[in-house]
Amino acid sequence: MSCFSSADESAHYGFSVCMLLEQYRQQLAWADGGVVELGTGDASAIADVVRALPDLRVRSYDISAPSVERARRNIAERGVADRYTVELGDFFDSADAAGGPAVGTVIANPPYIPAPDRDILMPELWGGVHGNDLVLQLLKAGYPNVICAVASYSDPVGTVLTAGDLGYRVANFLAMGLDYGPYSGEPKVREHIRRLCAEGRGWAGDDEYMVAVALFTQDPDIPGDRGTQLLKALQV
Ligand SMILES: C[S@@+](CC[C@H](N)C(=O)[O-])C[C@H]1O[C@@H](n2cnc3c(N)ncnc32)[C@H](O)[C@@H]1O
Repeated sequence: MSCFSSADESAHYGFSVCMLLEQYRQQLAWADGGVVELGTGDASAIADVVRALPDLRVRSYDISAPSVERARRNIAERGVADRYTVELGDFFDSADAAGGPAVGTVIANPPYIPAPDRDILMPELWGGVHGNDLVLQLLKAGYPNVICAVASYSDPVGTVLTAGDLGYRVANFLAMGLDYGPYSGEPKVREHIRRLCAEGRGWAGDDEYMVAVALFTQDPDIPGDRGTQLLKALQV
């Protein structure tokens, strides 16, 4: 077991979460209830967000023991351990998911590596055959607001359609191009991505893809219906 490491992607996730939390501060009311997070990783990205937003509290979960160990060190070094806590375990077994969401907003850069099976470089990053299993599970968990990374090669059309069926709209998003790293560049994964894109389930260039961090909302007070723009930004 190892810890997820992808500096550009984590920075994009952290920056985008910060922007969306700021832009929708009133409607999301996170200063009152805090937010929960699926997948802490090394915590550096969101620890910086917690430091930048003094009224933010985050309760995070990760299934990877080395990640949790490293995350706790990073959180302590940044001096935000009182407002950013990490528990080892499956997010969906947590009290929030089991008893219905106690808070209104969940954030995640979830596992989205598509592959025929879990036998990949970091198995905790497996997102199912199409890559979007965890995103779909998150959308079905009952949170009114889901701020979540969506990758261009992980069936984003399926994700946006399912979100719509569940009563979500894409309020807004931030998209960025990323180079293939060790996880998506693993030959078995790369070949699988090529097949998925050929089947029309997403987009990837020879060595690059797109990731958008999007706010999916069921809240009628939050305007915006940008699912089509999101898919265009992801090149699909
Ligand atoms: C793509 S990494 C993102 C890490 C970090 N948020 C970042 O952006 O740098 C996804 C993380 O989710 C964790 N994970 C996978 N399945 C999970 C689950 N069911 N519950 C909690 N964490 C999970 C993995 O161990 C991994 O650390």
